[in-house]
Amino acid sequence: MNDQTATRHGRRRPDRRSGTEATRDDSNDVPGLAARQAAAKLLAAVIDARTPLDGLTDHDHGHPGFRALDMRDRALVRATLATALRYRGTIARLIARRLERPLPPNAHQLSHVLHVAAAQILFLDIPDSAAVDLAVTHAKSDPRTARFSGLVNGVLRGIARDKADALPAELDRQDDAPEWFRDRLAAAYGASKARAILAAHRVEAPVDFTVKSNPERWALAFGGIVLPTGSVRVERLATGVTELPGFADGAWWVQDAAASLPARLLGDVARQRVADLCAAPGGKTAQLVLAGAEVTALDSSRNRLKRLDENLQRLRLPATLAEGDALKYEPDAPFDAVLVDAPCSSTGTVRRHPDVPWTKAPEDIAKLADLQSRLLASAARMVRPGGRLVFSNCSLDPAEGELLVAAFLAEHPEVALDPIQPGEVAGADPFIVSNGTIRTTPADLDLGRPEISGLDGFFAARFLCLP
Ligand SMILES: C[S@@+](CC[C@H](N)C(=O)[O-])C[C@H]1O[C@@H](n2cnc3c(N)ncnc32)[C@H](O)[C@@H]1O
Repeated sequence: MNDQTATRHGRRRPDRRSGTEATRDDSNDVPGLAARQAAAKLLAAVIDARTPLDGLTDHDHGHPGFRALDMRDRALVRATLATALRYRGTIARLIARRLERPLPPNAHQLSHVLHVAAAQILFLDIPDSAAVDLAVTHAKSDPRTARFSGLVNGVLRGIARDKADALPAELDRQDDAPEWFRDRLAAAYGASKARAILAAHRVEAPVDFTVKSNPERWALAFGGIVLPTGSVRVERLATGVTELPGFADGAWWVQDAAASLPARLLGDVARQRVADLCAAPGGKTAQLVLAGAEVTALDSSRNRLKRLDENLQRLRLPATLAEGDALKYEPDAPFDAVLVDAPCSSTGTVRRHPDVPWTKAPEDIAKLADLQSRLLASAARMVRPGGRLVFSNCSLDPAEGELLVAAFLAEHPEVALDPIQPGEVAGADPFIVSNGTIRTTPADLDLGRPEISGLDGFFAARFLCLP
């Protein structure tokens, strides 16, 4: 049976792959086994080595075990990993309930085999029998787990048998993310909002598009809606974005509605010299060029700048590109306006990148906040007197947003906060907080339309560089 196309309610053929008979690594002979093995390896890379999932599942440069799979198996691996990470706490507890004693702390591989199969049994449309049998074969194929194949069989069969009764209560506990992350969200947003954010993190994000013109037309073409911010939102895409109409013509680009706000905070930039200091892959550069600015797009990563170049060429939106470190960059003349969309913990994008809470740690947030403060100070030196500066990032953590800005203002009397005013930027009013900065979270549904799901977590502040 092909488990990618099988549905939970589909007809089940007798499984002739008697997993309990397998004693060797027969990943080439057993359909679906290579995908399970790749999923467990990638889960190990994320959980044990804190390697970001995006790079591991890149079609050209990803993990060799992933690249060896055909496209359908790659899709299965991606879906399995996203699910295993989104529901990691729930899955761990359901596994633990089936064990007489906890797994030894060094039984990492066994844990990954169980998590991959349990994610499929609990949340994916894969027949339980196929998921269990393949997990047993998988365990037997690896000397580190072979002697636990009986345990794998027993635990997973138990989970499959009890899931209708046991799953709802475990899901209700809403503690799938690591403790440090849950604690920081609760400290920043309070228990109730933190819970809502964590609930939103379980749901795959919609796809938002920034369109050059006529959002209603594109919403109709894509089967989506126009958000109050002007972005076009499609809850679930039936095809890849490159197959959508308008892609080759450069009529639009993918950009979360929250990510479209910072560039617009610079106001009317037509004919102004604007620097986008952390520019790649270029969503905000494209907005600024479209708004008529002469944009210098700087980024320290050559590869990412190459992607920005390709994106702007497709969009037919010209900018001056520069590879360099924004901490050292010295423009020929000060800019009228500068945008710093700083590298951050990306905790606002967990819906799209469920590995983030598992690959980042509080120390990373502290380091990134320090880098961001230095980038902001460097950016302020590049703005002409009277010019505007916008700082933004896709972190949910106040250390990278609200607290950082308060400290920056205290240390830089030559810069003043320029509060964002209600009515200034379409769709942004619900996200303006009391001091005139912007904060969005995936739990913000207050777009005036209850059917619209949330936004990426973003922070943005605008400053005036005093004459
Ligand atoms: C959050 S991404 C920017 C996203 C981009 N603004 C957009 O809207 O598509 C941060 C970018 O900052 C770049 N970066 C990191 N440190 C930098 C530095 N010191 N100078 C310039 N760019 C830097 C990274 O390479 C990365 O492309």
